[in-house]
Amino acid sequence: MSKITAAITAVGGYVPEYVLTNQILETMVDTNDEWITTRTGIKERRILKEPGQGTSYLAIQAAKDLLSKSNTNPEDIDMVIMATATPDMPVAATGVYVASQIGAVNAFSYDLVAACSSFLYGMSTAARYIESGRYKKVLLIGADKMSSIIDYEDRTTCIIFGDGGGAVLFEPSDDGLGLQDEILRSDGIGRQSLKIDAGGSILPANEETVANKQHFVFQDGKTVFKFAVSNMADVSEKIMNRNGLTGEDVHWLVPHQANKRIIDATAKRMNLPEEKVMMNIHKYGNTTSATLPLCLNDYEKQLKKGDNLVFASFGGGFTWGAIYLKWAYNSN
Ligand code: UT7
Repeated sequence: MSKITAAITAVGGYVPEYVLTNQILETMVDTNDEWITTRTGIKERRILKEPGQGTSYLAIQAAKDLLSKSNTNPEDIDMVIMATATPDMPVAATGVYVASQIGAVNAFSYDLVAACSSFLYGMSTAARYIESGRYKKVLLIGADKMSSIIDYEDRTTCIIFGDGGGAVLFEPSDDGLGLQDEILRSDGIGRQSLKIDAGGSILPANEETVANKQHFVFQDGKTVFKFAVSNMADVSEKIMNRNGLTGEDVHWLVPHQANKRIIDATAKRMNLPEEKVMMNIHKYGNTTSATLPLCLNDYEKQLKKGDNLVFASFGGGFTWGAIYLKWAYNSN
């Protein structure tokens, strides 16, 4: 019996309407369009403004987009994996609510939390459930309402992040398409470099943590940048080498959108020209768990069955990795 492989068979995406441009940020903090553009590649990002709407809203919209585009009956979905760093609430898993809201009444669901690598790790998890033969349709959603944990008086972080959601459906492939190989890594050395200090079990919320703004993201950008640049390129090069792929063989790099300079360094190490690199950081900024599926959603029409895709991410923790996947369909 041939091995079951796990293929992506549909994608969907959603970003909120409100556009926070570099020009608007110039009126909020001491920054400028030129600095943001040259240091990060970001021009604008989307923000979910409506009170009472959380990450689940972004996830539901992305999942509904996938369901309608692919004509998928939500009742056929076996499982919903919700990759996120900004769950609706600390205890009740966001994915469980999302699954119910989209009509995936026969699915079980949980959240997967690994900062900016949540979606990449989720791809690995989804693939294992499919490869086991037990599950036929696994919906993987990556969504983050980053604006809920960003201090819009901190110019070192508020220029980077945005809100969004994306979704992919994994199904068994008969002809060996889908996930081929993966290198997933993590290192607790990064714990202090990208974090939210308070609101967890070490430092629960109190008046002082609120006054000290300890519920917002803190990032030591320089340190994270240094680790991201070398590690994302290393795993991407390694996964190519061990699968006998050259820059010619790779059709697309699907990189986490944290900083254009990190993406450029990875593409250079892989010997890939700019045209083979998915890039939408200028439009959305860093949407954390949503960057990879939002790339797929934006580039879906250009993808062809059999294309070799390398996904790569680096994020808080630290968490990082690369996945080699063969694309499974032509969109029409
Ligand atoms: O997705 C999760 C993983 N995260 C990442 O991969 C992010 C990795 N880090 C980065 O992308 C970059 O480090 C940043 C974009 C966050 C910062 O860029 P940088 O080139 O590392 O800048 P820097 O932190 O070294 O700051 C350079 C200067 C500083 O001024 P001085 O000390 O040289 O006078 C900053 O105060 O730029 C200043 N600066 C700003 N200036 C204008 C910092 N933020 C801003 C700003 N506007 N928004």
